[in-house]
Amino acid sequence: MTLKYTKIVQLRNIDALRARLDELDLELPSDDTILTADQGSPLAAPQLIGDFRVGNRWCIHPMEGWDANRDGSPSEHTLRRWRNFGLSGAKLIWGGEAAAVRPDGRSNPHQTMAIPENRAGLAALLTELTAAHRQSFGDDSDLLVGLQLTHSGRFCRPNGPQLEPRIAYHHPLLDAKFSIDPADESVVWTDSQLDQLIDDYVSAAGLAAEVGFRFVDIKACHGYLLHEFLSARSRPGRFGGEFAGRTRLLKTIIERIRHKFPELMVVVRLSAFDTVPFQTSRVVGQPMDHAELLPYEFGFGVDAQNPLRYDLAETIQLIRELRDLGVAAVNISCGSPYYNPHIQRPAIFPPSDGYPPPEDPLVGVVRQIQATRECKQAVGTFPLVGTGYTYLQEYLPHVAQAVVRAGWVDFVGLGRMVLSYPELPTDTLLHSQTARKRVCRTFSDCTTAPRNGIVSGCFPLDAYYKDLPEWATLREIKQSQKK
Ligand SMILES: Cc1cc2nc3c(=O)[nH]c(=O)nc-3n(C[C@H](O)[C@H](O)[C@H](O)COP(=O)(O)O)c2cc1C
Ligand code: SF4
Repeated sequence: MTLKYTKIVQLRNIDALRARLDELDLELPSDDTILTADQGSPLAAPQLIGDFRVGNRWCIHPMEGWDANRDGSPSEHTLRRWRNFGLSGAKLIWGGEAAAVRPDGRSNPHQTMAIPENRAGLAALLTELTAAHRQSFGDDSDLLVGLQLTHSGRFCRPNGPQLEPRIAYHHPLLDAKFSIDPADESVVWTDSQLDQLIDDYVSAAGLAAEVGFRFVDIKACHGYLLHEFLSARSRPGRFGGEFAGRTRLLKTIIERIRHKFPELMVVVRLSAFDTVPFQTSRVVGQPMDHAELLPYEFGFGVDAQNPLRYDLAETIQLIRELRDLGVAAVNISCGSPYYNPHIQRPAIFPPSDGYPPPEDPLVGVVRQIQATRECKQAVGTFPLVGTGYTYLQEYLPHVAQAVVRAGWVDFVGLGRMVLSYPELPTDTLLHSQTARKRVCRTFSDCTTAPRNGIVSGCFPLDAYYKDLPEWATLREIKQSQKK
């Protein structure tokens, strides 16, 4: 069984979206029209991050492409994606894409790497992006670009499709979902191995600084290693247990980088909340059975009594502590694309390893926006970036303007939308319009492709990918999975 939801394309205008939100009992502000910078769009207002004045409120989220060369250096696909980020018109480039701090921490053999051997590759990515930006807009003095640093933890696949997990602790549901033997201690990090990993992050940050990135993002989201540590309650020793222990790895990495490279800004992309893992299926998504696991101890930002609901108490405590450590901004995301994609990237069409959405994707969009609002209320002027807007499609700018004006968030981040339609920020700020044919319809091909060993990209809407032989392969895979 799948559930049918009204598609956004079926909504004829912003009032129809508002009516649909009312039906769903969702609170989400929106403007009547798209405003240009000259018409006073709130998205055109500069905003400080640290002491850097960022030129507008559009942010490009990190988006990897599973398309680097085997040595972690960029391919032509990688360079093109960064070029597109540069010509988008957004003035905050949050990390470009996840770059692994060491080879065995890659999520796939084609992940970009932040290692000395790839110094020239990282420099090329930055140059490509800033040159495209200068070419389109003349000035890049208000463009803030950083590099996202990662270790994929439970989701390492450095050599091929086979998972080579390195986990914080044994998680009863994720171990079962991803076939990890609960008795296998060899996959669990030892504290001394983590000391080495901290050094790897510091080295990678130094490399980013040398190459010219203004900040590094210490990725703590989406089920990857530093996110998993935040819920490592059952882990003994320095890096687990109580809140102080579970957050120590992330905070130590930040402190060490801040100490060694005081000029380099540090930011954090955080899965602010989570829910239990869902089962992969062709029928409507169902959470894995967790009845025997209550109170639930295996998530960060979840209500232990009812882990299908979020609880932001620890999240807000962590954001405040990060701010006090000198972190310059936090990008609020949630969940994981591997085990609960419907909350992380709301979509009408599921990726091949997902499940038909168990809720109208608008519910997921509003959940992320409201959770971010709650964080924002708790941290005052500390800059926050919001995530999960792409599903709003043509109404994304209407909502983005309204939430920034209302002070619910400081920057609106774009994920999938920038793959199908990189120029959306500049089209809105300069021309008060969007090109409907280029709007991401959340077909999820950019996730399904890499799940099946193919480079990521917007195959359905971006002519560049449509022309690749991989498009035929992807269609065959999708067809065979329908049977
Ligand atoms: C193809 C693809 C690649 C992604 N790569 C990254 C990444 O490297 N780092 C990251 O933090 N998030 C990554 N994400 C998540 C997005 O940044 C974003 O959080 C998500 O797509 C939800 O935002 P949206 O609704 O605007 O798409 C990726 C998402 C997609 C679809
Ligand atoms: S493949 Fe294109 S249309 Fe589909 S979700 Fe990705 S960016 Fe959007």
